Amino acid sequence: MQMYDIILKKRNGEALTKEEIYYFIDCYTKDTIPDYQVSALLMAIYFQKMNDEETAYITEAMMNSGEIIDLSMIEGIKVDKHSTGGVGDKTTIALGPIIAACGVPVAKMSGRGLGHTGGTIDKLESIPGFSVNISKEDFINNVNKIKFAITAQTNNLAPADKKLYSLRDVTGTVENISLIASSIMSKKLALGTNAIVLDVKTGNGAFMKNIDDSFLLAKKMVNIGTKMDRKTIALITDMNQPLGYAIGNALEVKEVIDLLNSNGPEDLKELCIALGSQMLILAKKAETKELAREMIEDVINSGAALNIFKEFVKQQGGDLSYIENPELLVKVQDVFTLKSDTTGYINEIKADIVGECTLLLGAGRTLIESKIDLSVGLVLNKKVGDYVKKGEDLAYIYSNDTIKRDQCINKLKSAYIIKEDMPILRPLILGIVTKDNTKKFKK
Ligand code: URA
Repeated sequence: MQMYDIILKKRNGEALTKEEIYYFIDCYTKDTIPDYQVSALLMAIYFQKMNDEETAYITEAMMNSGEIIDLSMIEGIKVDKHSTGGVGDKTTIALGPIIAACGVPVAKMSGRGLGHTGGTIDKLESIPGFSVNISKEDFINNVNKIKFAITAQTNNLAPADKKLYSLRDVTGTVENISLIASSIMSKKLALGTNAIVLDVKTGNGAFMKNIDDSFLLAKKMVNIGTKMDRKTIALITDMNQPLGYAIGNALEVKEVIDLLNSNGPEDLKELCIALGSQMLILAKKAETKELAREMIEDVINSGAALNIFKEFVKQQGGDLSYIENPELLVKVQDVFTLKSDTTGYINEIKADIVGECTLLLGAGRTLIESKIDLSVGLVLNKKVGDYVKKGEDLAYIYSNDTIKRDQCINKLKSAYIIKEDMPILRPLILGIVTKDNTKKFKK
């Protein structure tokens, strides 16, 4: 088999066979074909697309390119949750202890972030002492003991995807639905969970800006999961404004602790209930969404979820005094209040601009090796639909550098659209995709 023939075949719009896809993924993983040939193939895939069969084969080939994590030592049905990423998205950190408190094991493998704020691991590392560098044995023991643990994604998890994603990033071939779906699902499937709940974000702060593309991506991922014998469902959720009020690593952990103390933002709680209900149903802990909602509200109100969070932090070396006093997590030199210069209803808080502001402050990485400031970020005082008077507080900028803060002030102002009229509010949950059904709620 020759890579040249595979490139020509795809360039001419033909479907590749399982053998051809496995050949290209295996050779690329072993470095026996050059980047320029793989780049040419990626561009051909970008324009000619892949059908569902090809997408399933490339996912399987990338999944099998490295280690398959065996979670069979963990008792019970294991359900994973994945978000395609958004501004202020701290749902994983909140859902872990909530679902664990409902009796379902949560064995989570997470990554560091590239972009507007850190990833789940960066956020958790804002708790002094906390570490994700635990052995596989400790990871499994912790899940069996307290039902929740998080470890860092190993370098040997779907290594083909790691190489391919980096190449796509520099060859303009990221935005292809089959390539995105296979990239995400190869990593999810390499972790031996029984079921997967996907949160596909849509809107200006998401990877997928367009709602129809978001549904297509969700459908592709659900099809892949189903074909690989994992119960998979996807929710399509809004990312036209940040989730919750806090954006920035330590600030987001603090907001999660507020939620677990029954004092969190409504949208974050609603999203946790929507995703968590699907997790409980897939894990056979709840028969209906209504019962699942009750279970989730109970473990938040009783403090059971907070207790699991504390146990989890303790098991992974974190200092519990910061969970008892979460304001200690945020260490900044300056908190600037951005005031509104008009009166009216907030029609938009553009999540993409808010994300760029936190990046400017130093909360996120532009390069894998960049160092991030875990304390800086933003806390919004109002959300879309709220009424604001001239001179009232719009947001608070937490910074450790006055030059960055001043750049952020001007940028942040441009994220707001304030008008006399109340906006039509877009629902948080825009649809659900299962193997048999796609339901679109109001746009
Ligand atoms: N996240 C991934 O892991 N892969 C993609 O292709 C896009 C987002």
